[in-house]
Amino acid sequence: MKIESLSYILIETTDIQKWESYAHDVVGLMKNEKKSNENNLFLRIDESPFRFQVQKGETERYVLGGFELANKQEFDDAKKQLSDIGVSYEEQGDDLVNVRCVEELITLKDPAGNSLELFYGRSSDEEEFKSPQDISGFVTKGLGLGHLVFGALDIEPVHDFYIEVLGFGDSDIMHMKFSPNPEDPESALYFMHCNNPRHHTVAFIQAPSPPSGLVHAMIEVENSEQVVKALDRAVANDVHISSTLGRHMNDKMFSFYMQTPAGFMLEFGCDGLQPDWNTFKTTNCPAPSYWGHEFNIPEA
Ligand SMILES: [Fe+2]
Repeated sequence: MKIESLSYILIETTDIQKWESYAHDVVGLMKNEKKSNENNLFLRIDESPFRFQVQKGETERYVLGGFELANKQEFDDAKKQLSDIGVSYEEQGDDLVNVRCVEELITLKDPAGNSLELFYGRSSDEEEFKSPQDISGFVTKGLGLGHLVFGALDIEPVHDFYIEVLGFGDSDIMHMKFSPNPEDPESALYFMHCNNPRHHTVAFIQAPSPPSGLVHAMIEVENSEQVVKALDRAVANDVHISSTLGRHMNDKMFSFYMQTPAGFMLEFGCDGLQPDWNTFKTTNCPAPSYWGHEFNIPEA
């Protein structure tokens, strides 16, 4: 199976208005007015009809990620591969296909219990993308939305699933201690890429999955000025800053992290590495960052 990119994520909230303000005032996401209604907020960062769907529900959480396959042939091959190895999936009908603006869609779960959608044929919006903030554009062309980082205690089966079933490749594998206690075992961190140059599209940390269902999502802008301006907007709007500015070692990203209304963090960065996978060798970075990224995550 060859996944082309992470295309969208679905988020559940009890308070659509809070998400709308956060998206507009802080992140600089464009509301898709035609598609949104009182129970669903569709947010754009480029020509896609949406990259974030925020739906009204009972909880504040990340729900699922939508991953794109190149075409019907790849989609049918993916379904056959899942059936052959005994991974169950569900075919979705027109209702969901229309909501997600795709041709065909299946849903399945990874071994950690995270829900995924696989699809092909996503349409573009006719209306030109324009951020409500001073953002020239988000970096998505041929790269997808950004990246997602999950927690999973039983990390090896889920890593195997992304590599062997979904066809991801290892970008960086880290082992580190999260506490100063010498008795604590090291945790593994797997950073994986799909069939595009973004350094990692999915990563797993060997840690419990947080109540929000996601450790963080990352979106990328074109330059550092736009990162710092987003940090200023977050501070001005009393959004909790979960990490100071810093530069990551594995994907070279210059970024900060902030809390979203769903409880997971949003990494807002630039300068993400785009390796040539034909010559790239998986790295084992000794630390998450060269400098900065001092985390201050609120208790869930
Ligand atoms: Fe990240």
